Order: sequence, then C-alpha cells, then structure tokens
Amino acid sequence: MKILVCGKGGAGKSATSVLLAKKIAETGTVYVLDADESNRLLSKTFGVEAPDTLGNFFGGRKLLKQGIGEHEKIRLSELPGDYLKLTEDGIRFASVGKIEEFGEGCACPYGFLSKELLKRIVLDEGEHLIVDTEAGVEHLGRGIEEGIDAIVVVVDPTAEGVAIAKLLYTEAARINKPLHIVINKMTDELIPILKDMLGKEGLRESATIRYDPIVFRSGLEGRQLEANEAMKGVETLTSLLFPK
Ligand SMILES: Nc1ncnc2c1ncn2[C@@H]1O[C@H](COP(=O)(O)OP(=O)(O)OP(=O)(O)O)[C@@H](O)[C@H]1O
Ligand SMILES: [Mg+2]
Repeated sequence: MKILVCGKGGAGKSATSVLLAKKIAETGTVYVLDADESNRLLSKTFGVEAPDTLGNFFGGRKLLKQGIGEHEKIRLSELPGDYLKLTEDGIRFASVGKIEEFGEGCACPYGFLSKELLKRIVLDEGEHLIVDTEAGVEHLGRGIEEGIDAIVVVVDPTAEGVAIAKLLYTEAARINKPLHIVINKMTDELIPILKDMLGKEGLRESATIRYDPIVFRSGLEGRQLEANEAMKGVETLTSLLFPK
C-alpha cells in the first residue's frame, strides 16, 4: 500500500510518518519516501544519515524528465545502496531531493519526480510505502495523489489544520481515494474541541494522537524519534489502514 501523509505545516506529518512506519515495519516491509524539498532532518528521526537523492539518481534537476521516463516500473528494492538507507527498525529510507543553493530554481522538478515516482513504484506483497510530504497542499495541485492508495491528513489543534483537512477530504472523495484524518498533539481538553470543529465541517477523525512530551523532546534534539502516549493513536490508524 502507498500511503501519503499530508497536512498543514508543523501539524506532525513527519512524526506521524515515522511512527506509522515503525508500526507497520513490525509486520511488513516499509519504504519511506521523504518528499519534502525543504526540511532536512527526517532521516535523522529514523537514526540514519540522509541518502543521496532520487533526484540525483534520475539525472539531476535538469534531466529528471528524461531520466524517470526511461523507467516504466520502479522497484525501490533495486535502488543502489547510496539511495536507500536501512534503519535499525528495518525501514528503507529514500529522499526525492532538497533545495540546496541560492537561485538554483524552484522545487517543481522534485514535485514532478514525486508524482512520477508514485505512479511507477511497484510494491510486492507485504511491501508498503509511506510518503512524507511538504507542508500545505501543493501536492494536491500537482496531482501526486493519483499514484497512491490512501491519504492520511494530520490535523494539529488549529483552524487552519481543519480547513486543510476539509479541502483534502473533499478532493480525495472526488478522486476516489480513501482518506483518514488524524488529530495530533491532543490533550484531554483539546479532544472535544477538535472533534466539534471537525463535526461542523462534516468531518470525523479516524485516530487521535496525543501530545507526547517524548515525541516533542526527541524532535527538539533532532535524534531518532521516540514516543510513548502518541503510539496508541498510531496503532489505531494502522489497524484502520490494514483491517484484519
Ligand atoms: N504527538 C506529538 N506530541 C508532541 N509533539 C509533537 C507531536 N507530533 C509532532 N510534534 C512536534 O511538533 C513539531 C512539528 O512536528 P513535525 O515536524 O512532525 O510536523 P510536520 O507537519 O512534519 O512539519 P513540516 O510542515 O515542517 O514538515 C515538532 O517539534 C514535533 O516534535
Ligand atoms: Mg515534516
């Protein structure tokens, strides 16, 4: 299954991607694709250095179209080791590409590559791909959702987070993709407020991830992500994505 994790900036997309990957890796083979062209430390939250980028593998920003065009089907397992880092949880981590220099150009080539990759990546039985996206909804405008099987929208306790979830929910229904809303950084006080806000928009959360000081602390220190209370919501989400 190819799962796209998206939502408002800072909502907890990356934290959710990491914890979801760890959970699914307990029973299956998990690939993570870092599709955020700006943020740089996702690999560290898996305890590995960033691999060389798939942007480079497919020819660099100027030759991407031709480079990816030569690959009708892509098996991530066949990527050379430099482009796929294995974490201690057995998760395989790849990165689309990052903006590195003043004036190098916009992030569009990497958005294009993400879209083409998701259409072309072939997963075998028991293999799963989690795609951590950049903040906001550019991926929607670009149509990256076309190549994926399920969308997870992470909503933090903000009106903007709910508004983005509403847009993604509406568009996912239009293109017939299953979507799960996850409310994140939740406390006892916030849960009923967020449920009410979602309800007024005709939305309902699939899972609730609690505010977890251990997630926050490991995020602050830029090391391998750890979690305690947050894991319960991630387990609920996993069981909905993979019903027995
Ligand atoms: N459940 C949680 N409990 C406590 N802190 C959290 C939780 N989820 C995320 N955070 C913290 O919130 C901040 C943003 O999280 P994260 O980087 O995962 O968000 P993001 O949506 O990926 O952000 P960006 O839009 O920059 O990619 C980080 O400091 C992270 O540690
Ligand atoms: Mg992120």
